[in-house]
Amino acid sequence: MKKLRIGVLGAGAIARGSHIPGYAASENCELTAIADISPESLAGVREKWQFKKEYSDCSELIQTEKPDLVSICLPNVYHARYAIEAMEAGCDVILEKPVATTLEDAIAIADARKRTGRKLAVCFSHRFNSMVIAAKKAVDAGAIGKPYMMRVRFAHGGPFPGWAVSDWFYDPERAGGGAVLDMGIHAMDLMLWFLGKATEVKGFAGTLRKDIAVDDNMTALLKFGNDAMGYMECGWTSCAGFSGQEIMGDKGAITIDYSKGEVIQCSGVTSPDGSVKMENQVIAKRGDLSAWQNQMAVFIEEKLADKEFSTSIQDGIEALKIGLGVYESSLKGNTVKL
Ligand SMILES: NC(=O)c1ccc[n+]([C@@H]2O[C@H](COP(=O)([O-])OP(=O)(O)OC[C@H]3O[C@@H](n4cnc5c(N)ncnc54)[C@H](O)[C@@H]3O)[C@@H](O)[C@H]2O)c1
Repeated sequence: MKKLRIGVLGAGAIARGSHIPGYAASENCELTAIADISPESLAGVREKWQFKKEYSDCSELIQTEKPDLVSICLPNVYHARYAIEAMEAGCDVILEKPVATTLEDAIAIADARKRTGRKLAVCFSHRFNSMVIAAKKAVDAGAIGKPYMMRVRFAHGGPFPGWAVSDWFYDPERAGGGAVLDMGIHAMDLMLWFLGKATEVKGFAGTLRKDIAVDDNMTALLKFGNDAMGYMECGWTSCAGFSGQEIMGDKGAITIDYSKGEVIQCSGVTSPDGSVKMENQVIAKRGDLSAWQNQMAVFIEEKLADKEFSTSIQDGIEALKIGLGVYESSLKGNTVKL
C-alpha cells in the first residue's frame, strides 16, 4: 500500500506528544514534512523523529508538498487559516482544538470543507480515552437508563512550566481565551457527545490565581432542552483533586475517575431516614493506550479506509458556541441561548 504523506504544522508539545508519535507508530505513514517558525522547535522534533523536509513557513509546506494529511498543531488563532489553505490544496486535515477563536472562522472552515470535498477531524481527544469510550458504550447500552445530568472537572496546573514550548497560551490574540477554550472546550464536547444538543449556557470565566491576561478558571451550567443539564469546572491552577466526569441517569450513575483510572457504575438508593444502599461496580480500567495514541490510530485508520472522520467540524463548532457563550455570559451576567 502506498504510504500516506504526512505534513505537520507546528513542532511543539502536542505535535510531539500525540500527532508525530501517532504517525511514526503507523507503517502506513511517511513523515513527509514539518513546519515551524521556531528553529528550536524544529530541532526539538529532529532529536527524535526525522521528517524528509523542514519548513519555516506553513503555507510553503502546504503548497510545495500537498500532503495527503495535514496535522494542525499551531496556536489557536492560526487554525482556520491553515485548515482552509490545506483543504484548498487538496489535503485532508487533523485539526487541534479549539477549531478556531471565533465562530466566523469556524464556519469558514466548515464552508471550505464543503467547497473542497476534503475531510477534517477535530482533536477532541477525551472521546478517545479508553475509560470514556467504556462509559459511553455503557450509557448507550442503557446501563444507567436515560442520562439527565452530567458533571465534568478537568484541571491541572496550566501550560507553563512543563508543557508548551512557546508562549502563546497566555496571549489573548493568539489563544482567543484561556481555560475556557483550552480544557473547557473538551468538557463541552464531551457533554454534547453524551447528552445531545445544548440549548442554554450560563458561565463564569475568571483569572483567579495567575498573573495572566486570559482566564485561568471557568465554570458553566448547561441545559439540553428540558431533558438534561450539566455543570463543569475547568482550570489551570489545580494542584490535585478529582479529574473526570460523572453521568447520572434514571437507573444509576457512572463515574469516570481519571485520577484513579477507573470507571465505576453505581446504583442504589439513599433513603430519607439516612440509610444508604449502594452498589458500586468497576466496569473498566484505564487502558494501555493513551487517549492521544488511540485518537491518532483511529484517525489514520479512517483516512486509510477513506471514511469520514469520527469527529467533525460541526462538533468543533457546537463546542465553540458554548465556549464563546461562557465568555458572553460571564461578561454580561446573562444566560446565553445557543
Ligand atoms: N488535544 C489536546 O489534548 C491538546 C493538548 C494541548 C494542546 N492542544 C492544542 O494544540 C495546539 C498547539 O498547542 P501546543 O501545546 O503544542 O503549543 P506549543 O507552544 O507547545 O507549540 C506550538 C508551536 O507552534 C509554533 N508556531 C507558532 N506560531 C507559528 C506560525 N505562525 N507558523 C508556524 N509555527 C508556529 C511554535 O513555534 C511552537 O513550536 C493548540 O491549538 C492547543 O489548543 C491540544
